[in-house]
Amino acid sequence: MNPLNHVAIIMDGNGRWGLKYKNSRNKGHKEGLKTVEKIIQITINNKIKYLTLFAFSTENWKRPKSEINYLFNLLETFLKKKIDEFNKKNIKLKIIGEKKFPKNIKDILKKSENLTKKNSALQINLALDYGSKKEILNAIKYISKNKLKISENNISNSLYTKKIPDPEVLIRTGNTNRLSNFLLWQISYSEIFFSKKLWPEFNQKDFIRIIKKFK
Ligand code: IPE
Ligand code: IPE
Ligand code: MG
Repeated sequence: MNPLNHVAIIMDGNGRWGLKYKNSRNKGHKEGLKTVEKIIQITINNKIKYLTLFAFSTENWKRPKSEINYLFNLLETFLKKKIDEFNKKNIKLKIIGEKKFPKNIKDILKKSENLTKKNSALQINLALDYGSKKEILNAIKYISKNKLKISENNISNSLYTKKIPDPEVLIRTGNTNRLSNFLLWQISYSEIFFSKKLWPEFNQKDFIRIIKKFK
């Protein structure tokens, strides 16, 4: 088996990139999507089975409404344009998070998940409205409500990531060395790589270097 089965990424630095080069944070988010596409391809080429991408945190709701709207429009347009291509490439899309979105977003996410649910080359877990503390809290509430034994297994199996093996590698771009409430339970034993590059400038070579270093 590939020693690298699951990579998780905190895609940080879009806003700063946008401000620096295009005088607009939102343009940085748009540019960041190009990196997402490149990274997906490298993941497939390297036969990595799971890719978890942190795209929007429970804390990100505090951002200006205009930025939030832009991000969700971007996501909607991206999925409408790309989901058939993902499907053809045998990619499965799974959303992890609280899922408190407007109806149009909920609908497109559900549709994309349903369309790709039988695929098996790569599973992309898109963390949207995601917060690790909330995830753990929900797991404990579930265990308590169903009167299950409080055990590591039961906690793992009550997270959004149930049935998904823990990531061997976590990458954070954007020159910030913190976890920002991402996968706190699941990365207990992951190798963590911090990149100084902003997400839109993180490229294939950077990703391959990390894969090689891990291996
Ligand atoms: C992208 O980076 C992550 C998202 C929340 C979409 P940021 O938007 O946090 O960019 P910086 O960190 O402000 O540069
Ligand atoms: C982490 O980036 C969340 C995502 C990449 C979606 P943030 O920019 O939101 O995190 P902080 O504010 O630096 O902790
Ligand atoms: Mg940031």
